[in-house]
Amino acid sequence: MFYETRARDRNVLPHDPFKAIVAPRPIGWISTRALDGRINLAPYSFFNAFSSVPPVVGFSSEGYKDSATFAVESGEFVANLASFDLMHPMSQTSAPLPRGQSEFEHAGLTMAPCRLVKAPRVAEAHASMECKVSEVIRLKSHKGEPLDNYLVIGEVVAFHIDEAYIRNGRFDTAGAKPLARCGYQDYSVLEGLIALARPPGAGG
Ligand SMILES: Cc1cc2nc3c(=O)[nH]c(=O)nc-3n(C[C@H](O)[C@H](O)[C@H](O)COP(=O)(O)O)c2cc1C
Repeated sequence: MFYETRARDRNVLPHDPFKAIVAPRPIGWISTRALDGRINLAPYSFFNAFSSVPPVVGFSSEGYKDSATFAVESGEFVANLASFDLMHPMSQTSAPLPRGQSEFEHAGLTMAPCRLVKAPRVAEAHASMECKVSEVIRLKSHKGEPLDNYLVIGEVVAFHIDEAYIRNGRFDTAGAKPLARCGYQDYSVLEGLIALARPPGAGG
């Protein structure tokens, strides 16, 4: 099957398969604090890491949503790890609440203070990364037309890790059961790892 993006046959593929193909995607569960003190929390699966030294992560907002607004105006955000045990509260934090109404309260989650940024982290999350915004990129079409999509990039300046998930000096990724987003209404859970040493001389 081949189709140009604009010409998908909706009889054959009634729903856009894009997000089912670029899957699984890690979920950045983004907490922010506006300059006036309002707190926000929402999941973003257009989220990833872009560098390890220093660690840099980013999330992309389809429309200029509260998380992007608050992150940009404050220069800070927190990327919390979404895990299988927090699947339902995580989903609840994506509800479109009126601006300023706390998603923490709505989802029954606890705020814990950060050290280097003013936004709170999710106390229940097995790991959280305090981030300072380094760049905001408004995405463009291939013709250079500005899109209503905003990639907010930040350097991770501090980590919080639940010590229950540190084993033999490593973060126990499989034990933490991170949740990832697939297409449609689907998620996946990482529960097992496969180790493979890099070829000699390979970087990355
Ligand atoms: C698992 C999951 C992943 C999501 N990923 C994104 C995303 O990458 N970009 C986006 O704009 N919205 C995404 N959404 C929708 C936002 O979470 C939702 O619009 C939310 O209300 C935005 O909140 P905010 O305005 O408080 O930032 C996602 C929702 C879920 C449940």
